[in-house]
Amino acid sequence: MTLVPLSGPFLDEREEELVLEVLRSGRLSLGPWIDRFEELFAERVGVPYAAAVANGTAGLHLLCRSAGIRPGDEVITSPYSFAASANCFVYEGGTPVFADVDSRTLNLDPATVEAAVTERTRALVAVDIYGYPCELDELRAICERHGLALIQDSCEALGAVYKGAPVGSHGPPAVFAFYPNKQMTTGEGGMVTTHSEEEWRLLRSLRNQGRADSGGWLEHARLGYNYRLDDVRAAIGIAQLEKLDRMLELRRSAAKLYGELLQDVDVELPAADDADHVRSWFVYVVTLPEGVDREAVIASLDRDGVQSARYLPCIHLQSYMRERFGFSEGLCPVAEDASRRTLALPFHAGIEPAAQERVVAALGSALAAA
Ligand SMILES: Cc1ncc(COP(=O)(O)O)c(C=O)c1O
Repeated sequence: MTLVPLSGPFLDEREEELVLEVLRSGRLSLGPWIDRFEELFAERVGVPYAAAVANGTAGLHLLCRSAGIRPGDEVITSPYSFAASANCFVYEGGTPVFADVDSRTLNLDPATVEAAVTERTRALVAVDIYGYPCELDELRAICERHGLALIQDSCEALGAVYKGAPVGSHGPPAVFAFYPNKQMTTGEGGMVTTHSEEEWRLLRSLRNQGRADSGGWLEHARLGYNYRLDDVRAAIGIAQLEKLDRMLELRRSAAKLYGELLQDVDVELPAADDADHVRSWFVYVVTLPEGVDREAVIASLDRDGVQSARYLPCIHLQSYMRERFGFSEGLCPVAEDASRRTLALPFHAGIEPAAQERVVAALGSALAAA
């Protein structure tokens, strides 16, 4: 029995060709491929500036530095996200405040965000979960009203469209990630988009050990990090950008097929697009009916050679968050309920229709037995 994997990158000879070019150039880091990748990425998203970083988490961390988050500042974010959405400001001593999500989109509910703002709130990290654009305009209005910095965690949303414009282009700085399960990959990697030249220069300095634009290799203008992307990865990124539209389209049609195949299966499908929100398909996550034993479903899928994943555990209920900040169940009931019942199915640009049929058949029998 062949395994249906959860995810996989979409690569061809073009990545090999460009990587070889970098290797043969002898310039493996701080070379011209980074600048080129940044320019092409900025153009694709429709922003003036993009700064490549080692991974999405590094990009988020740098934006927290740029926003001036300090120990004791409260930062609001979504509990239904990947841990890095909160870790990025905990690194700076920020205190996480989790606002609950909307049950349909699984993105932050602006009303809960508004209710979570206090005198100490300094910033908001808004996540476009599973590639579905968050309620940016409402969240932005809250941030403007209360003088908060807004950071967009768009790590899962490259190619998504909010109110007619690409996610990442609307104004607040945004971060994208390129781990191999993402819409495009560089192995490890990330990108920050911004409209501010000043912020872009700061990000480039912070990622490069605090070196300034002018000054020598051993001169450091500020406390920085080694969060650089290297040229080998930038070359992979350029090859991936060249076929991004095709990869997004393949993901879109795979999602459409799942939607059709799952019509008669007792699961809730991911939130549909509307005029303001066009999802970029990152993962395919269904919600199991209440009362179904998710572990039994996962075990049954496993026996049928179908990988699945418990996307996503609530961040506030992770052991380190409970220990450090005293969070417990009941803080964000909507996110917690979703978190118990959601399940990611195999999904990537190269998934074959026959594999999707196998997944759905296996899910159907798993649910019948659960
Ligand atoms: C919502 C979200 N934020 C942040 C990250 C962090 O990205 P990376 O794994 O590249 O550090 C990811 C990716 O896993 C993510 O899905």
